Amino acid sequence: MKTLSNHLLLLVQTALFLYVASVAGCHHPEHQHTTTTTTPALQPTTTAAPAETTTTAPEPSTPATSKSDNRLIAYIADWALPEKIAWDKLDQVIYSFAVPDESGNLGEFDADQLKSIVKEGHDNGKSVSLSVGGWTGSLYFSSLVGSESSRAKFAKNIANAVDEFDLDAINLDWEYPNSANGVACNQNDPQDTANYLKFVQQLRDTLPKGTLINAAVATAPFNDENQQPSTTLDPEWKGALDGFYIMGYDVNGNWNEDAGPNAPLYYDGQSDGIDTVSADSAVKAWSAAGIPSDQLYLGVPFYGRIAQVTDKVTARTGMYQPIQKNQIKGDEYDEKSADPCPGAKSTFSGMYQWRSIEQQGISTNSSGWETSWDTASQTPFAYKGNRVLSFDDPHSLREKVKYAKANGLGGVMLWSLEMDDADNTLLNALQGIRKD
Ligand SMILES: *[C@@H]1O[C@H](CO)[C@@H](O)[C@H](O)[C@H]1NC(C)=O
Repeated sequence: MKTLSNHLLLLVQTALFLYVASVAGCHHPEHQHTTTTTTPALQPTTTAAPAETTTTAPEPSTPATSKSDNRLIAYIADWALPEKIAWDKLDQVIYSFAVPDESGNLGEFDADQLKSIVKEGHDNGKSVSLSVGGWTGSLYFSSLVGSESSRAKFAKNIANAVDEFDLDAINLDWEYPNSANGVACNQNDPQDTANYLKFVQQLRDTLPKGTLINAAVATAPFNDENQQPSTTLDPEWKGALDGFYIMGYDVNGNWNEDAGPNAPLYYDGQSDGIDTVSADSAVKAWSAAGIPSDQLYLGVPFYGRIAQVTDKVTARTGMYQPIQKNQIKGDEYDEKSADPCPGAKSTFSGMYQWRSIEQQGISTNSSGWETSWDTASQTPFAYKGNRVLSFDDPHSLREKVKYAKANGLGGVMLWSLEMDDADNTLLNALQGIRKD
């Protein structure tokens, strides 16, 4: 089992980079992680056992599963669990990812590890969710929701997992319905968004009553039949999900012409060479498409992105400099990875986790870095010579919490918990969302 886990680690590390690079892909069709690295062969997956084979245990004390008790939601990653989870500082943990194969069987995660997280969560009175899909785990979503029989089967598989692992919630992470911006070998269909809705409704009917269903979503509403973001969604989407978790990060990165903010709260700066969407524009787009604000959650990153630009950066020049060389390595955790598609090239993500930023004293002007504030995006940026790093710190996260509260959002989601420092500095900065 250990060997298999280690092997899968590589696969899933790939998933991490690609997952977080996803929103960027959404807005930057030119940024395809298409390339030529050998992808490790898929290993047999740890498929959720049918309900009959699970050991019968007494019903555990039921953690809060009402929406109002789930305001701060943290993703954790199968391949990089936090050393310690500060359960008292969050409401729900999402374990990622269960990857559906062509038949809709869930695999590629460590089942024993998930079980121990659920136990830990329940011992602490907290909800635990399982995320289905992810950037590299969305290859077959389109056909899995494409017919009545496949929807029923896929929903049953997920219900079996809910039963086997005693889950409180399911997180769907399809990146993305009818989109050319997911991984190159994803299936797509003009009816994806319509079928997704039918699937969510089927899943609701199949899961035990009270199981929350939420989804990670892009900064623009689900695509229409022409692969454009929907301006109006089918009204039945309203309430179909308990939460739409907007991935408000990876807006800009080393795939762009210019360096720009990774997770802008607002954006009112220059528009050439960068993407100008923001958390605010995303919330407005989803609201305009018909989703009530209390069903929208703002996703925030516990990492930044680094870029190498043409000229020396200072507080005065700002971060918006032409990128000279993409694919420079981020922090020590950044490793090259590739999409699970033929011809996919291996690249660095340029990600720089908060724990590295903190440890190197980047935000306190140590080790040659200086950190300044970008007013257009309400996020900090650091610079050192020709390198610029856009990230989130306690200040920018508090601003995001303020925004979420002022706009009546359901809460805040974060990717991902192990990237915080040992003092939970970023998690602490988000606590305001849990208070009325
Ligand atoms: C870091 O340097 C910048 C630019 O000189 C300055 O604005 C900022 O206040 C400094 N930060 C700290 C923590 O000293």
